[in-house]
Amino acid sequence: MPDIAFVNGTFCPASEAVISIDDRGFQFADSVYEVVVAFDGKPFGMDAHLTRLRQSLKLTDMSLDDLPYDLNAVIADGLAQCAYPEAMVYLQITRGVQPRSHVVSGPVPLTLVATFRPKPVIEADKRRSGLSVVTVEDPRWAHCEIKTTALLPNVLAKNRARNDGFDDAIFVTTSGEIREATSANVFFVRNHTLVTPAATRSILHGVTRRYILQCARSINIPVEERSVNIDDLASAEEAFLSSTTLDVMPVTSVNSKPIADGNPGPVTLKLYDTFVDLLNRERTPAK
Ligand code: PDD
Repeated sequence: MPDIAFVNGTFCPASEAVISIDDRGFQFADSVYEVVVAFDGKPFGMDAHLTRLRQSLKLTDMSLDDLPYDLNAVIADGLAQCAYPEAMVYLQITRGVQPRSHVVSGPVPLTLVATFRPKPVIEADKRRSGLSVVTVEDPRWAHCEIKTTALLPNVLAKNRARNDGFDDAIFVTTSGEIREATSANVFFVRNHTLVTPAATRSILHGVTRRYILQCARSINIPVEERSVNIDDLASAEEAFLSSTTLDVMPVTSVNSKPIADGNPGPVTLKLYDTFVDLLNRERTPAK
């Protein structure tokens, strides 16, 4: 089965899916999205993803009630059709199709685009070596908690980082406060405590981030959610990124300087194992 898409109310091979050039998602990035993984047809953390989607829609004056499709039914149907054991479901909701004008006239049915592809595989070597990151000034707006597709700053930062030989960039304010990576949350370990920027409006409230904090508490690792300064990162014992596609991904250098001895640290590896156990429990329902 090829990768499939749901668009304009029907399923088709992803390579054949098209939307109108007048879609507000295309014209204005007037849209929000979610990325969810599913194991054997069962989405992981769906309630948390749906809660965040509802919140993103609310904060952008949209609502799932205005979607002319049953979102859960589309997801279940798409997963059954693609039958990938590890699928990545991308959901995008836009403010619909109208001739281009900033002003929306009348009620417009929202557009739903969903794609069903295999979950990207992360090379074992990359997990072992960890990521190199570079810090860049955060040029984004005041509502990074909204999961909008307006990702130009993230796209530019990631590509510039790649062109400069780094794996990713971490957004930092002019006063040195660390926010997040271009498509992942950031964690680090200092004095055997797991530290991550607080869930303010300046970062996306990652679903994986929440699970990682839960995993840490379950194995008695102290946790601090607080404002984090760039000096904290430079003197960290360990660092890692978290996201739906990366899970827990070690970061082993910042701005070309190794973190500690430049290898993934024990707390990071332990949290990765604990998170993978959680995913496996979802995969194999208890008898
Ligand atoms: N990105 N911060 C940003 C800016 C993100 O784009 C993401 C996820 C995260 C982590 O969120 P979560 O744990 O819920 O995946 C944090 C997705 C994976 C993407 O854009 O593809």
